[in-house]
Amino acid sequence: MIERPRRLRQNPVLRSLVAETRLHPRDLVLPVFVAEGITEPRPIASMPGVDQHTLDSVVEVAHRCVAAGLGGIMLFGVPQHKDATGTGALDPDGILNVALRAVREAVGDDLVVMADTCLDEFTDHGHCGVIDEHGRVDNDATNLLYAEMAVAQARAGAHVVAPSGMMDGQVAVIREALDAEGFTDTVILAYSAKYASAFFGPFREAVQSSLQGDRRTYQQDAANIVESLREIDLDIAEGADMVMVKPAMSYLDVVAAAAERSSVPVAAYQVSGEYSMIHAAAANGWIDLRSAALESLTSIRRAGAQVVLTYFALDVPEWTA
Ligand code: PBG
Repeated sequence: MIERPRRLRQNPVLRSLVAETRLHPRDLVLPVFVAEGITEPRPIASMPGVDQHTLDSVVEVAHRCVAAGLGGIMLFGVPQHKDATGTGALDPDGILNVALRAVREAVGDDLVVMADTCLDEFTDHGHCGVIDEHGRVDNDATNLLYAEMAVAQARAGAHVVAPSGMMDGQVAVIREALDAEGFTDTVILAYSAKYASAFFGPFREAVQSSLQGDRRTYQQDAANIVESLREIDLDIAEGADMVMVKPAMSYLDVVAAAAERSSVPVAAYQVSGEYSMIHAAAANGWIDLRSAALESLTSIRRAGAQVVLTYFALDVPEWTA
């Protein structure tokens, strides 16, 4: 007698019954861009199907997320004016805070409303923090701004703030500031293991980034995994309620190690370049869009991510219905 694993693969219902991993809409978070001063959604050329939204259209998208049963929405702001310290990020009337308020009012507690807590979309030099007199990103001065930014986002209605700037100590400073202002229930999703990645390329178009150079003095080196585990440990100790690995597909070993080690839920971010590559290959007829996207997302879940941020989030419920 031979062992016959194929017995369980003979038809779709049997395969589905024994599937070890499922993609549920609730596990997915849709990242969304909101731009100041536009009157119509503006397509992002390098991300087919993804737009910069107006304040009206972002609310429509949020309603679609609720209808589709998604877990959450992550908002990024694209301001009209940028400056050296990213003033627009802290301003209650800045585009991201205004959008957070509108979306939270529209969805209440039917969708988890998340805010990117980072200065890079708001600074004229495009870095995630402020620059000191030597031209370096100033860790501690930046943290003070993140703290104010997180409080402004919580005040605007964000359920979750997501510091993505990779400054040391950012989670502790943000937690302390939120608590001091009475936002003890605001959740911190820490981008703990965020790598200096070429796969962020299309995002830079999406937020009209003015970055020259790179982020290698604060984002992690692709060569390292032990360092990621240290970052995750530190963030949990500082009060992170969830931790994230980003990008996802080239870092599935990091996702798996994080899931093994973390005492809090682990998220992974399938970033712009991952999305665009799948679309570009599909547009050439080289791969099938739907099955490649679903396979990539399933692999991220299989690696151990409980929550997945993906630009495919609204496609998944349609594809799997
Ligand atoms: C920083 C931030 C970035 C992304 C999310 N948050 C860009 C960066 O670090 O350069 C990238 C997301 C993506 O590529 O989809 N605010």
